[in-house]
Amino acid sequence: MSIIFKILKLSFQINKKYFLVALSSTILAAIAPTLSILVFTEVLSSLVRAKPEPEKILLLVLIYPFLTFLDNIMYRIKNSLTDLAFRYDMTEYFFKTFLKKFISLDMEMHENPKYADLINNARDGHEWRPADVLRFGWDAVYDFVGAITSGLAIFLVQPLFSLLIGISIIPRIIVDLKMEDAMWNVWTLDTDTRRRYGTLIHQNENPQYVKDIKLMNIGAYLQNKLFVLYTSVVKKQKKILFNKLKWHIIAGLLPIAVNGIALYYLVNQYYLGHIEIGAISFTLFNLLFFRDRVAQLLSDITYALSQTKYVSKVFEMLNLQNKIVNIPNPIKDIDTPPSIEFRNVSFKYPDTEKYILKDFNLKIDKSETVAIVGENGAGKSTLVKLMLRLYETTSGQVLINGLDIKTLDIESWRKECSVLLQDFTTFQVLTVKENIGLGDIEKFERETTDEKVKEAARDAKAEEFILSNKKGYEEPIGRDFNGVDFSGGQHQRIALARTFYRDSGLVIMDEPTSAVDAKAESEIFETIKGKIKSKTVIFISHRFSTVRMADRILVIDKGKITEEGTHEKLLNNGGLYSTMFKLQAKGYV
Ligand SMILES: Nc1ncnc2c1ncn2[C@@H]1O[C@H](COP(=O)(O)OP(=O)(O)OP(=O)(O)O)[C@@H](O)[C@H]1O
Ligand SMILES: [Mg+2]
Repeated sequence: MSIIFKILKLSFQINKKYFLVALSSTILAAIAPTLSILVFTEVLSSLVRAKPEPEKILLLVLIYPFLTFLDNIMYRIKNSLTDLAFRYDMTEYFFKTFLKKFISLDMEMHENPKYADLINNARDGHEWRPADVLRFGWDAVYDFVGAITSGLAIFLVQPLFSLLIGISIIPRIIVDLKMEDAMWNVWTLDTDTRRRYGTLIHQNENPQYVKDIKLMNIGAYLQNKLFVLYTSVVKKQKKILFNKLKWHIIAGLLPIAVNGIALYYLVNQYYLGHIEIGAISFTLFNLLFFRDRVAQLLSDITYALSQTKYVSKVFEMLNLQNKIVNIPNPIKDIDTPPSIEFRNVSFKYPDTEKYILKDFNLKIDKSETVAIVGENGAGKSTLVKLMLRLYETTSGQVLINGLDIKTLDIESWRKECSVLLQDFTTFQVLTVKENIGLGDIEKFERETTDEKVKEAARDAKAEEFILSNKKGYEEPIGRDFNGVDFSGGQHQRIALARTFYRDSGLVIMDEPTSAVDAKAESEIFETIKGKIKSKTVIFISHRFSTVRMADRILVIDKGKITEEGTHEKLLNNGGLYSTMFKLQAKGYV
């Protein structure tokens, strides 16, 4: 319930004018039917009175259509405002707040199932569910005012009836709330099933998987996995629905009985001469109206409540507190090119058991070029993530220019780093030019010519294939957007150009040319050599041809540096490096 009030309050803050108009039209629309009934029954009673008053009857007959019109028009105003106008504003509000929060969350939150489940639940309809809560919340206000008005009208005729009809709807309230809870529990308690279901839908419906699915002919196999889960969930939901129907029928009998008793009582009273004919229709209409409004109120509230459960997840997600945050007054002025040191660093990914680094020590001087090699899973990319403070060390320190990384302003530090991640992305819909410019968005928006973008593309050996497309740098990425689909290596070269465009004192490249052909790779590294003289450079590669150019090569094995030195020194060492080098070389002779 508190969420419904929270959303109503939010709607007031978002648009006060809409709110006040919606509120007054809701109240008027809700009381208008009872007023109409009142006028109608007064006409009826007047007609059969011993001394009819024609002027009064005429006046009432004239008022009646006006009230019906008021009812109608106010109802429409209320609906248009709460369903349409508020919907857009509310949707925009939640869309923006959700996205801002989503991007700002620590990597841990996105990866750790503990938080990822919450984020997924929040993502599920965060744009439209709050607007739905609002709409049904307003409908509930309308039903509530209507029920109170007719309840009051019944009370004036016979207080006992309002008590009886009130009691008669309690079972229905209990049934609705219980069933709603059961429905919600089926879907959310089993987050594991939900996660599997979501991923299976994604795999079954995403074009990215179609090629593999076709080639292995596993469509039916994967669909079957999906439908086994679907049926298991739906079976439980169907059971609840049928249960709900059964209880609704049973609970619906009580208000009908109250109506019957009321009719019997009123007819008796009429024959005894205690009430007028109009009182019978007035009470019966209001009893029916009351029952309808309460039934509607319940269905609106149960729907709104079912949505509030999702919306509460959105609020919960918006309240998540990052662990990686700036200290008060962090250092913004950072010397560049920087030196980097890992001092006794141990690290395991949050909520996991295995240490990826254990008492790890490493010092990279300013303007030094260091290559890191090691087997898959040795912890190379993890080192990069720690340098960028995407994760916090479990113990030990990462020092930048001798200062603990935690004392630096996160944004300022990341601005000093040009990074090409191993799992880089290019952005579809955006043009090639934008994709390169994203490397330094402030510079890109400042720049009046494309010269720097083009220079970065040339350095990444990307210009030739960019210009071979009709719109060149203006070509959007993605054929779905009237653009091009690049090959894997071409995507990587654009991402590399993006890294060059940033032009900061620290360059970190994790497998920068893993998909690039040998010729382009050697040309790219020639260019890099010329460009990076004054920078601190860290690159990770499995290709020894590129590793050789580093001032120093580090071999990482099981979270420790096991060898260190120049290419020649390591070759003579006879360790993992020389073994890996010889294995790779053997492939070429
Ligand atoms: N986000 C994560 N959460 C939990 N464990 C992770 C995560 N990322 C990596 N790991 C684990 O950390 C270890 C080191 O991974 P990392 O990506 O650093 O290896 P790598 O040396 O870069 O390997 P590769 O040569 O394949 O790129 C692996 O065992 C991996 O399973
Ligand atoms: Mg890696």
